[in-house]
Amino acid sequence: MIKRIFSGIQPTGNLHLGNYLGAITNWVAMQHDMPSIFCIVDLHAITVAQDPVALRAGTRDMAAALIACGIDTDKAILFHQSAVREHTELAWILNCTARMGWLNRMTQFKDKAGKDKEGASVGLFTYPVLQAADVLAYKATHVPVGDDQKQHLELMRDIAQKFNTDFGRQIFPLPEPIIPKTAGRIMSLRDGSAKMSKSDASDMSRINLTDDADSIVAKIRKAKTDAEALPDNAADLKNRPEAENLVVIYACLNKISVDAVLAEWAGQGFGAFKAKLAERLVETLAPITSELVKLQADIPHIDAVLAKGADAARAIVAPVLAEVRSVVGFL
Ligand code: TRP
Repeated sequence: MIKRIFSGIQPTGNLHLGNYLGAITNWVAMQHDMPSIFCIVDLHAITVAQDPVALRAGTRDMAAALIACGIDTDKAILFHQSAVREHTELAWILNCTARMGWLNRMTQFKDKAGKDKEGASVGLFTYPVLQAADVLAYKATHVPVGDDQKQHLELMRDIAQKFNTDFGRQIFPLPEPIIPKTAGRIMSLRDGSAKMSKSDASDMSRINLTDDADSIVAKIRKAKTDAEALPDNAADLKNRPEAENLVVIYACLNKISVDAVLAEWAGQGFGAFKAKLAERLVETLAPITSELVKLQADIPHIDAVLAKGADAARAIVAPVLAEVRSVVGFL
């Protein structure tokens, strides 16, 4: 079985440090280990209302951000989902494999639909089936995702298994999730109990990839902490979520463990630590930001890169869909 990575990301405009350290650095590292396919999931985006102009801009911005962060489009395949129709076609077929009972258990649907379940789109309900189709259309074996996607990955494996059993053929491999330790661990700079998020009302809560050096320094200086010094062991960070968050960010940026950070900083206050952290952030993000700004200004280039990615993606999914159509019994 060929090993292959597939992952998807919503075209929700600007990336922040949480996306970068939680997911993207991981994608960038993995693209060298296995053939990798990264998809900007605009079909998933329309499961909730979208402004068409903002959706198009968000898709291009996400492509630019991923390239700026180090996705190498000569190595990995980068494309937007709606350009490859096989995603939609396989999603329909798998809608007929997935069971209502399975989807009824999806917690993300309940969270996203909120109180108005009756008013949610049918697409939002079958969102995880489209996600299964994304991965299975490539017979992908590994799926790097955040910990919030665990349940969707389990569903994907159930769908693959049932399809294989129903038709008596090993068509789809059962994809393995790859969940990095840092996934979902980068928290708001204002509230250590909330994830860093694009939708947080306060821009001070997050570091955007488009932030300049001055705002990065200001945001870290104003980041919430407590009055105590840095401890000498990780256990003592337990009830200090804001302190822990800054230490985790520092560890990720330097690719060292939390213990190694504390070995260096134990007993010191947050003043000096924050200054060093801001310096490392600026050092890491400045080249990404300048590349991002350049790419955002070159829409024809972004569109050409995405078109090339879509061609490469189609070449992989076309034979898989031919096989699926045949086992299902389509003439
Ligand atoms: N639902 C995923 C998220 O919100 C995005 C996604 C869509 C995805 N299709 C995928 C992730 C396929 C992994 C594989 O993060």
